[in-house]
Amino acid sequence: MANLVKYAAHLLIATAIFFHPASFAKQAAVAMPDSYSSDTARAILEQGGNAVDAAIAAQFVLAVTLPEAGNIGGGGFMLIQKDGKGDFIDYRETAPTAAHRDMYLDDKGDVIDNMSVYGIHASGVPGSVAGMWLAHQKHGSLEWKTLLEPAVKLAEQGFIVHPKLAASIERYITRMAKKSVNINFADYFADAKANKVFKQPELAATLKRIRDQGKAGFYEGETAKIIATFMKQHGGIITEQDLKAYQAKSRTPIKGNWRGYEVLTSPPPSSGGIAILQWLKMYDLAKPKGTLEHNSTTYVHILAEVGKRVFADRAEYLGDPDFYEVPKTALLADDYLSNRASTIRPDAISTTENIKPGLHESEQTTHFSILDKWGNAVANTTTINLSFGSGVVVSGAGFILNDEMDDFSAKPGVMNVFGAIGGKANEIQPHKRMLSSMTPTILLQDNKVKMVTGSPGGTTIISSVYESILNAVEFDMTAEQVVDSPRFHHQLWPKNVIRYHTGLEPKVVKALEKMGYTLDERHFGDMHVIINKDGKLDAASEASGRGKAMVF
Ligand code: GLY
Repeated sequence: MANLVKYAAHLLIATAIFFHPASFAKQAAVAMPDSYSSDTARAILEQGGNAVDAAIAAQFVLAVTLPEAGNIGGGGFMLIQKDGKGDFIDYRETAPTAAHRDMYLDDKGDVIDNMSVYGIHASGVPGSVAGMWLAHQKHGSLEWKTLLEPAVKLAEQGFIVHPKLAASIERYITRMAKKSVNINFADYFADAKANKVFKQPELAATLKRIRDQGKAGFYEGETAKIIATFMKQHGGIITEQDLKAYQAKSRTPIKGNWRGYEVLTSPPPSSGGIAILQWLKMYDLAKPKGTLEHNSTTYVHILAEVGKRVFADRAEYLGDPDFYEVPKTALLADDYLSNRASTIRPDAISTTENIKPGLHESEQTTHFSILDKWGNAVANTTTINLSFGSGVVVSGAGFILNDEMDDFSAKPGVMNVFGAIGGKANEIQPHKRMLSSMTPTILLQDNKVKMVTGSPGGTTIISSVYESILNAVEFDMTAEQVVDSPRFHHQLWPKNVIRYHTGLEPKVVKALEKMGYTLDERHFGDMHVIINKDGKLDAASEASGRGKAMVF
């Protein structure tokens, strides 16, 4: 009898091991925007933490070591595939209670320059700490305090400033000195010099309150008081009540089938998940038979044509789903996409003004990808919007506030800083989340993680993500090739402008110009990608950034 029980127990354990995702992926991998976040994520995984634990620790480290975009004063999206199930933690910022539709318009109804981009009026209520708290409550396995410790240490004892960070701080301070905007960024960051230790004692104290009190260490008590007092002193509108009321949300990820993969991606208030599925599916519908040459004229043109249609829909239908009913199903319906793609010609540009929404009958942000040894994945994109956000540091709390309010549509048809337009779906309302392009995405096959991808870059995020998927799937590239191949982006407006990376062949550039496009050579994005090829992991961070990817 005892032997029978023992046998049954062994059988149970063997079955659990066999069906546990651990049996699919012995290796783990991280692809992160800097070495501090990369080393921290690896250390957490090696301590036995899961991908979500590693992501939480990395998010807080990035708030210290990547001030351009890492944050506790901003927001983001964390896409999770864990124990075979998807989850999406929406920690996007919200408009404060006193926000209103016309808050960035002058007496004549014109948009006031820079008001939603720099300074005290540019910020939404931060969501990052609440997002990490919710992710930890639902999926974490290590102690919250353990996950905060690396960030506390780096803020308190300092970290060595990468020359690329020092250069971007210097450029930012010089550029902002020429603008008549009131920000205090230089008071905090002018001392961050290349290869020198930089300490942030106020930020360390804030992180300690978060470590010791959890979510309340930011949204209530001393930190909330410091933020609200600072806001009041400088004419801002975020209050203690706004902070206390902030809630991160768990939403159902968007799932779509494409070429035998299940694409698990970001739902509204991201516009990106719907956009990349529209892009991938319309590409298949519009391209000539067979495989087009990577980054050839026809390839770039067809994808730009698809982009026109994707961005026309984005401007009209996408917004915070808690305030505006986003027609998700209709936008991804096969008939709809096939109708939409049917007007694409392989040799001619369609007229921008005729592309309407179809249903009527130093941008910054940062991304990281983690895959643990059990096969659980996190794709996390987080932002304070532009590089260094609003440029405003909360005095006494030591962190940069976002300028995410610019992602709302300040006035119908008027472009935001990314050239995106919008209308009713994305107008400002109190407590509403501004539309985002952040698109953390995971590709699954037989419910196993095959790819984890994402990028910063405002509206160009969507192009970086769908092109990374095409690079991996259609062109069978390694992770390094995926992230470092030249990319391109078109988004309806400005008219027929294609932005592209250095490296697109000169003959392709010329041929596109001949077709009528204007080519704008400007880098965008900073991809961090993990690929699982037949159980062997491959990870890469884009060479242009200061990222670090590892498989171990
Ligand atoms: N702030 C950039 C985005 O969310 O799209």
